[in-house]
Amino acid sequence: MAQAVINPRIRGFVCLTSHPAGCAANVARQIAVAKASGPGRGLGNVLVIGASAGYGLASLITTVFGHGAKALAVAYERPGQGEKAASAGWYNIAAVQRAAGGAVKAINGDAFSDALKQQVVEALKAGFGKIDAVVYSLASPKRKDPASDTVWSSVLKPIGAPYASKTIDLDSDTIKPVSIAQATDAEIAATIQVMGGDDWKRWIDALLAADLLAPGCRTVAYSYIGPQLTHAIYRAGTIGRAKDHLEATAALLSASIRARCGASAGAWVSVNKALVTQASSAIPVVPLYISLLYKIMKEKQCHEGTIEQMVRLWRDHLAPGKTPAVDEVGRIRVDDWEMRPDVQAAVAALWEQVDSGNLLAVSDYASFKREFRQLFGFEIDGVDYTVPVETEAAWA
Ligand code: NAI
Repeated sequence: MAQAVINPRIRGFVCLTSHPAGCAANVARQIAVAKASGPGRGLGNVLVIGASAGYGLASLITTVFGHGAKALAVAYERPGQGEKAASAGWYNIAAVQRAAGGAVKAINGDAFSDALKQQVVEALKAGFGKIDAVVYSLASPKRKDPASDTVWSSVLKPIGAPYASKTIDLDSDTIKPVSIAQATDAEIAATIQVMGGDDWKRWIDALLAADLLAPGCRTVAYSYIGPQLTHAIYRAGTIGRAKDHLEATAALLSASIRARCGASAGAWVSVNKALVTQASSAIPVVPLYISLLYKIMKEKQCHEGTIEQMVRLWRDHLAPGKTPAVDEVGRIRVDDWEMRPDVQAAVAALWEQVDSGNLLAVSDYASFKREFRQLFGFEIDGVDYTVPVETEAAWA
């Protein structure tokens, strides 16, 4: 056990430290939202893969505190060691477990590996029984092929032609031109391997083989579409190809889950709103788009954070007894408010105007920066950052 004063160390879209008290405060705020919005019961056992940050963390909190689930949380995080702080996700899971009083177990390791899948199967058999919902919310730059030593790396590149636009330089807080060369075929294929549906299918196959999916079991993975402004780099780019694959996988998985678990069971992709997370901050152009989007959605009073999005997803679509409402290709759309024509028209108008001189005035970049730091437990009201804190925290 060791105590230290922890300060933020930020490099572009990465923060190298995180604060346990701030992370606990973030988690407490999300728990309060989930408790206030949910019935507090209805769900049995839930497995959340990628449960320590962003949409996975909000899914864990919504299912446990909003719908009474018992959960197994899987994530890949770094524990604290001596005076060195743990990763934010480590502190997030520790805080969820303290609040859940035994209802949340956690396993740390590489979710892409066969060994980790087997460890989860054993943990479910020993302490849970059959699962009622599986959330798949991984965001990773790399995936090691379980069948060989190949490591695939995803890239965020356009396809077919180079892309030029503007983006925020997160170190200098200025708007700069950005140009990105088009992806090679090998880069497209690797990105699909990392962020497509292959690993989601491997999880569901492993759980079906172990007879661990309950009647009516539902699984969900998260996707994004976004506006014309980010189209070339996102939905029509390498990451979009991976999302196409993820969405196609849902149909495949639905068939095999329904054959075993009945007609109300199935696999869905939910298209979520663009939000500040560790994953989204790394995508070129997206931080600028998010800063403009937040400004407009707050003005129009339709802004949501990760927890509000997940509360809506589970309340309206995935809770037992609900029939998910889907678009023409079978996807749940909680990005509906982001994609409203009036919201998108206002964002597009600001996009034309924004430059380094007016960035803070015409966009909500101040909130983007603050929320980014808050992901790591910094700049949270009520936390005294001058006081030494315990860096180590146990997972159960
Ligand atoms: P995030 O970076 O906040 O969280 C990623 C999670 O994956 C963490 O819990 C991390 O521990 C876990 N993880 C990463 N590699 C792992 C591994 N090898 N083994 C086990 N766990 C691992 O990401 P975010 O933004 O919440 O993304 C989750 C999903 O939501 C992604 O599919 C993303 O594309 C999607 N999404 C995100 C949007 C956004 O604006 N952030 C919008 C719409 C969809």
